[in-house]
Amino acid sequence: MTQEELFKKLVAHSKEYGFIFPSSEIYDGLSAVYDYGQLGVELKNNIKRYWWDAMTKLNDNIVGIDSAIFMHPRIWEASGHVGAFNDPLIDNRDSKKRYRADVLIEDFIAKQDEKIAKEVEKARKKFGDSFDEAKFLATNPRVAEHKAKRDEAHERMVKALNDNDLDELRQIIVDSGIVCPISGTRNWTEVRQFNLMFETKIGSVSEGANTIYLRPETAQGIFVNFLNVQKTGRMKIPFGIAQIGKAFRNEIVARQFIFRMREFEQMEMQFFVRPGDELRWFDHWRQTRMKWHRALGFGDEHYRFHDHDKLAHYANAATDIEYEFPFGFKEVEGIHSRTDFDLGNHQKFSGKKIQYFDTETGESYVPYVVETSIGVDRMVLQVLSASYEEQTLEGGDTRLVMHFPPALAPVKAAVLPLVKKDGLPEVARELMHALKADHNVQYDEKDSIGKRYRRQDAIGTPFCITVDHQTLEDRTVTVRHRDSMEQQRVAIADLPAMIGEEVSLRKLFAKLN
Ligand code: GAP
Repeated sequence: MTQEELFKKLVAHSKEYGFIFPSSEIYDGLSAVYDYGQLGVELKNNIKRYWWDAMTKLNDNIVGIDSAIFMHPRIWEASGHVGAFNDPLIDNRDSKKRYRADVLIEDFIAKQDEKIAKEVEKARKKFGDSFDEAKFLATNPRVAEHKAKRDEAHERMVKALNDNDLDELRQIIVDSGIVCPISGTRNWTEVRQFNLMFETKIGSVSEGANTIYLRPETAQGIFVNFLNVQKTGRMKIPFGIAQIGKAFRNEIVARQFIFRMREFEQMEMQFFVRPGDELRWFDHWRQTRMKWHRALGFGDEHYRFHDHDKLAHYANAATDIEYEFPFGFKEVEGIHSRTDFDLGNHQKFSGKKIQYFDTETGESYVPYVVETSIGVDRMVLQVLSASYEEQTLEGGDTRLVMHFPPALAPVKAAVLPLVKKDGLPEVARELMHALKADHNVQYDEKDSIGKRYRRQDAIGTPFCITVDHQTLEDRTVTVRHRDSMEQQRVAIADLPAMIGEEVSLRKLFAKLN
């Protein structure tokens, strides 16, 4: 199965089992907007809990807030979003499709890397054991040609983005021979800047309607509450403020399912530090955040850092944590050293002093900020794609299983009476009620036990608990483990502790040290 086929199956599976639905589906949907179904919302909540607790419980100097989506419009002038939160867009005149110019070039660069990888594979097959990859990469003329194209496009793109040179961006597309994926032609328009913020009106028209924006990031809600939290919480630098909430961007190139949406959720943490300390803390958060991802057990090789070529208008260092999705390595989290840009500008634009008095140094200053910013929906997609497996079992039977880390699984256990009679459903229901105060548990008595196991595998339930005739005699049940499919006999009295331990976030947190 190709990665593309796998991704299509994942999207279909997400819908079929109630994880994710296209928004407004009965009205033919709304592009790049999605709804979370009954299982999707549980998965998403568990991911948020993993992040929130890792930030606010494991760090005694990080607290959380929940700021409003609507904010004073001047905030977005101070933050630079009104002036600079733009995407460079280009249209193909034949297909009438609109693209981000930098994404077209990045795709071209990625294609050159794919071509190099193919050359290597071909040569490896041809030369067998005697193949020297390093020598081949250094000397093969076709590899040199692909590398030269890649490096030239990359270098020119970085310069054009830094210089905000839209003509040059177009020229790179033309010179690289990039064609529209739909029409296959090179009939490109000029490149134009397009602001990504959604506007709406606040107040009644008679009072004079005011344009406000749907926030494009949650971070500004943290910055404008810096003094409130610092003073009321008696916080001492270094300290952090965490927030989870919706953000909105009018993405033109919205694609890859929930990877790039117009309405999405972010989990952001701003860490306030002494000026001059920011790069040390940047490094700390870079490592700490990578550990958080890797603790999920999806394989360290599927993660990498990508340091930014073009720094955002507020940053003096920035990196992305990328995960290898079925459509390649892509950003899931950004870590930025944002300097004193935001607090400094809010001080300027609001006319209010935003300073911290450092009792250790006896100085007042505008703190510097290191930000960690991760998309909840991209995490959901990461967890879904890493967990999905079509497994062939001994004897040729197949099953579809979602290997969710137990702490993130939407349903923790299913309670299944072996048959629908002899008092087994009553005992099973009693057991379900005993577990449901602590965990999301399902009861299922329909179809054969094998079919019920498969249904639970498909939604990633880590434990199936079967109540059988022996249960009536000795108050034990069979616990079937999702991944190994092994079964063990467990006393009902021991079940709450056993499940509680296995699905606890503590298991993940233990890997963060
Ligand atoms: N406050 C900094 C900030 O917003 P960003 O790199 O623009 O930085 C941070 O966004 C994270 O938000 C990204 O790493 C990504 O996970 C998520 N994100 C951004 N745009 C998104 C979109 N259109 N759809 C889904 N997630 C998005």
